Amino acid sequence: MLGQKKILLGITGSIAAYKAPMLIRSLIKAGAEVKVVATPHALDFVSKLTLATLSKSPVLINLFDDGSWANHVALGRWADVMLVAPLSCNTLSKMATGQCDNLLLATYLSATCPVVVAPAMDEDMWHHAATKTNLQLVTQHGCTILPVGYGELASGLTGEGRMAEPETIINYLNKFFQNNQSLKGKKAIVTAGPTYESLDPVRFIGNHSSGKMGFAIADELAKRGADVFLISGPVSMAPKEPLHVVAVQSAKEMMAAASQHLDYDIAVMAAAVADFTPIHSSAQKIKKLDNGELTITLKKTDDILASFGKEKKKGQLLVGFALETENEKNNALQKLNNKNADLIVLNSLQDNGAGFGGGTNKVTIFGKNNFEQAFAVKTKDEVAKDIVDTIIKLL
Ligand code: CTP
Repeated sequence: MLGQKKILLGITGSIAAYKAPMLIRSLIKAGAEVKVVATPHALDFVSKLTLATLSKSPVLINLFDDGSWANHVALGRWADVMLVAPLSCNTLSKMATGQCDNLLLATYLSATCPVVVAPAMDEDMWHHAATKTNLQLVTQHGCTILPVGYGELASGLTGEGRMAEPETIINYLNKFFQNNQSLKGKKAIVTAGPTYESLDPVRFIGNHSSGKMGFAIADELAKRGADVFLISGPVSMAPKEPLHVVAVQSAKEMMAAASQHLDYDIAVMAAAVADFTPIHSSAQKIKKLDNGELTITLKKTDDILASFGKEKKKGQLLVGFALETENEKNNALQKLNNKNADLIVLNSLQDNGAGFGGGTNKVTIFGKNNFEQAFAVKTKDEVAKDIVDTIIKLL
């Protein structure tokens, strides 16, 4: 399972750093690509030369070296997983509070990949209330904590606090990647962003959709192994994961692009498609009129979600969105039935932290047989995870 996986191994100043060379050897043996980022104190416990030789890559330590800057953002994006092992009490506390005084912490704060940590400390430190609070905080921030082992500790005492053995960590990573790839072999299509309905060569009717929610869903589907086709209206962002992007402008173009992919396994229609488009788009710029009024006649666009609902075959899973300002639940349920969707993700503009533009969203997912699940306000990446988890359960 670890073949070709990119593992960013963070090593901190703990006696358990002596296990890091064995961990790197096992990861490389399992086919993973490993880069090491170490805190300066980690190198008091394990040699840079050993780590670089075993990982086949220079060990990264400082934010700046000989006038050059270590690109922590690129590192965090390179990795499929960031594994901090061993995680010292000191680095745990800095991660919990968002401190950024070394390369490892800067990489952690900018990592877009999942982060797994294997703490290592003496038993009394492990049981201290401050450690427990910090562990809770990093868990809330999305880190996975590997359980510590019981046994002889550096202090000579016996108890809890030993770093998980390399074999346990490898087993965990194997399971992690196995679960994470549950959409391998599935084709997914996602629509995202607004559409622009042209009035003349310089003007259009559009909306405030940023595309963030649709892009986050497309990225999450790709992370879980799906082959994703993202059909996007005009937005100023790019996907983080490797996937196929089809850029469109109007509702008509979005419909035409989406219709190329009726052989989907999962379709998520997250785009804010214009419901109406001008009957006539002027070839020349519309000039100001003397009487101060301009009437534009609009016609209905084709509903992509509804048309996919009509064509839906057994085994295909269709997800729509409902952005509402009133009668939210009723409207969402109507869309579920009228458009023959399997799930409708409702966001209400009445909720703080929900809707267009911002980095967060608050959704309730409705499905057949009275399925209803409400989620708290979360980042759009986290909301995407909840939506994809719900899709996977339904599949
Ligand atoms: N949708 C679509 N094609 C359209 C309009 C909407 O695929 N021409 C999809 C959206 O991507 C979303 C869902 O339909 O998944 C709901 O869109 P929304 O605009 O909220 O609902 P409408 O059906 O257009 O109804 P209304 O605007 O009256 O609420």
